[in-house]
Amino acid sequence: MTQIIKDKPLENVAPFTAQVNSALSFAFNPHLPRQLEENSYLQTQKHRESNARSYPRRIPLALTKGEGIYIQDTQQQVFIDALAAAGTLALGHNHAEINDTITRTLASGIPLQSLDLTTPIKDKFIEQVFELLPNAMRKNSRIQFCSPSGADAVEAAIKLAKVATGRNTVISFAGAYHGMTEATINLMGNLGPKTAMKLGLNDSIILPFPNEKRCPYGLGEKGVTASLYQLESMFSDPESGVPKPAAIIVEAVQGEAGVLPADFAWLQGLRRLATKFGIVLILDEVQAGMGRTGKVFAFQHAQIEPDIIVLSKAIGGGLPMSLIVYQQDLDTWQPGTHAGTFRGNQLAMASGQVVIRHILEEQLHLHAATMGAHLHKRLVDINSPIIGDVRGLGLMQGMEIIDPHGEPDSLGNKPYDGQKARSIQQIALKHGLILELGGRYSSTLRFLTPLIITKKEVDLVADIVAYAIGEVSHNTVN
Ligand SMILES: Cc1ncc(COP(=O)(O)O)c(C=O)c1O
Repeated sequence: MTQIIKDKPLENVAPFTAQVNSALSFAFNPHLPRQLEENSYLQTQKHRESNARSYPRRIPLALTKGEGIYIQDTQQQVFIDALAAAGTLALGHNHAEINDTITRTLASGIPLQSLDLTTPIKDKFIEQVFELLPNAMRKNSRIQFCSPSGADAVEAAIKLAKVATGRNTVISFAGAYHGMTEATINLMGNLGPKTAMKLGLNDSIILPFPNEKRCPYGLGEKGVTASLYQLESMFSDPESGVPKPAAIIVEAVQGEAGVLPADFAWLQGLRRLATKFGIVLILDEVQAGMGRTGKVFAFQHAQIEPDIIVLSKAIGGGLPMSLIVYQQDLDTWQPGTHAGTFRGNQLAMASGQVVIRHILEEQLHLHAATMGAHLHKRLVDINSPIIGDVRGLGLMQGMEIIDPHGEPDSLGNKPYDGQKARSIQQIALKHGLILELGGRYSSTLRFLTPLIITKKEVDLVADIVAYAIGEVSHNTVN
């Protein structure tokens, strides 16, 4: 089943050039920090909204406007949004073409919701999604729209794998994040939500994710071989004690785990084992897909094709949408076996077409690769003992913060320092940069800017991060 995906020829394709035309004026002046004070909106939010709210605790802003990579709060303060709705806004806030498309679609009188009935907008959207697909899948796949969250599409993928194989377990990996429904929490690495709900490991098997630097096998680069060997012996040993799973689900770049790109040879090994043992390989591209890592799909870095691709976030052009695309021989389930009311969001299909067009016709993913490489270099160039690692692909970058005075582990890695990462995040916010944290103990600064970011804007992001790190390192060293 393994296929080599050839990049499309780039001749005759105009390279993507980001346009910088924001009316929101941004300034970085270390002596003039933003005011992050309580206001009535934040007070009402605290008072009325669930204790499960998360982002407002670290990013206490009430927002009024967004344009490109910038957002403005109720105090007319402008921030660079390097979170972009958790990587959803590939074309940034209020992209003119997306807004125009949404306005025209509304004016056309199309029913806004259509369940899974078809429409000309849906028809065109599907055609474009198939254009995006790697070679073999383009010829041989089915698409299924899900309820609009990424988690629901993951649910669909694992249900389909279970129905198609007649088996009921799914392998996922430490650090994995596939959503917050009960089934997807079962697949998750982070123990927090599981422990809170006293969840067991219903039908899921969680194995180590080979990461050379902090290898869970303690073997460094040999961790990849160890992992593949472990999987192969588990699948072939009649006394492994573990029944053959229906599926393996994996992120080609783990986002919430702290931006950990999977080793390409390991992904190829997973593909080989899945094919050999008749296990469905699911690639969760909810965060890393749609050009973010410099390829259309992150798994293309490893030159593999999955059996099921899970997509959400950027595929809807900023509006809610999720779907799975899968090899058509898996299409064994009965009508209505995975349904959902909001599968037919016409505005999302129209705005999603704009993102896909920017990828297909203007190679937005290559722009993400170039900007990501520049960001990576600028982050690597920041010289500080509290930076343990800078890693990522394209515009999915992470910077791990460590305690330089801490006891190293057996591989020589210093301890994670979530507290300092939090301080850096807060200083960056005061100076106009919204960043999210992830990884173990929330020690990794994550960069998920819109893909339309320009080089000048990348420099601004890096300047603010360097400033914030300088402040925190200064306090650490002295
Ligand atoms: C890789 C991955 N899968 C699934 C999800 C779940 O998506 P949603 O929050 O839309 O349910 C996320 C969300 O961040 C994600 O990053």
